[in-house]
Amino acid sequence: MKQRILIVNSGGDCPGMNAVIRAIVKRTHLESNWEVIGSINGFDGILSEPLELMPLTQEKVEDIQTLGGTILTTNNRRNPFNYPVLQEDGTIKKIDYTDKLIYNLKVLGFDALIHIGGNESHKISLKLYEKGVNIIGIPKTINNDLAITDYSFGFQTAAQVATEAIDKLVTTANSHNRVLILEVMGRDAGWIALSSAIAGGADVCLIPEIQFNIDKVVEKLKSRYTAEGRGFANIVVAEGAYFKNENGEIIKGNIAREIASKLRDLNFEADIRETILGHLQRGGTPIAFDRILATQLGVKSVELALDKKFGTMAIHKNSDVSHINLKKVINKYNKVDLSHNLIHTAKGIGISFGD
Ligand code: F6P
Repeated sequence: MKQRILIVNSGGDCPGMNAVIRAIVKRTHLESNWEVIGSINGFDGILSEPLELMPLTQEKVEDIQTLGGTILTTNNRRNPFNYPVLQEDGTIKKIDYTDKLIYNLKVLGFDALIHIGGNESHKISLKLYEKGVNIIGIPKTINNDLAITDYSFGFQTAAQVATEAIDKLVTTANSHNRVLILEVMGRDAGWIALSSAIAGGADVCLIPEIQFNIDKVVEKLKSRYTAEGRGFANIVVAEGAYFKNENGEIIKGNIAREIASKLRDLNFEADIRETILGHLQRGGTPIAFDRILATQLGVKSVELALDKKFGTMAIHKNSDVSHINLKKVINKYNKVDLSHNLIHTAKGIGISFGD
């Protein structure tokens, strides 16, 4: 019987997931006695009745590195330790299904499970490894908030999408002497906002790592206008950024709208418009950088499985590919370090962080 690898992708989708899947299949194909199966919709495929598994042949993955999303579909609410199970009365009960997972992996002859996911997914990876699952992790998030790896695939594509959005917003802000606010993804880490603010020429960059002061933002915006009201400004704000209002309350969530509302309350002289970039950062074809990174991590993950180095994650470090113990990955976020050169560079070209 062939030795088998199961791929499970979890969490939000991102550009490059298909490139990883393709790389795993193609690298495994070089091993004469191995095959790759994909679990549909995260852990559902290997836990559902009937099972929903997809044999991943060379034909199935041909040229999918150019496709956004994932051919396996994914789900960010399928934790096998707390798995939603439909009850006879129609209610959903959360049950620890890991014994069932381990049983299914065994009877179906899986020798390794490659789990593609973000921080929360790899907390699950580690717990499954500690229960005896031969698991290898691959870092995946557009927010680049996974510690240890220099980059997670998907991030550079998301930063490119955000930059192209700013390029467009700058022209319309200029045409109407307006303040345009762009909200980008980044719940805990502001890498997309920081990178696209520099690349796109924003005037203000607001990130979760720096609590901003609305008065400082107004000060910067005013500097962009003449006494006659000529001028324009662009703000990039990460969805996780926040400020305190006059009552000392933390204002977080729907942050672009909150900033726009506050500026209007303060009678800021210019028109203000906000854009929520949302899932445009998650979809679409990956840029070359992310296809290459995804392919590197996919190949590495198979080699870790072949070497039985389970409980590890393939990472990109110092321009090379390596691996690290899952224990060292979880519970650490790759937040923007305020001493990072990108912060210094942004300030060096006059971008305000509202502080
Ligand atoms: O993957 C992280 C993320 O993109 C966040 O930045 C965003 O807030 C969230 O996922 C959106 O989740 P969903 O796709 O479930 O709406």
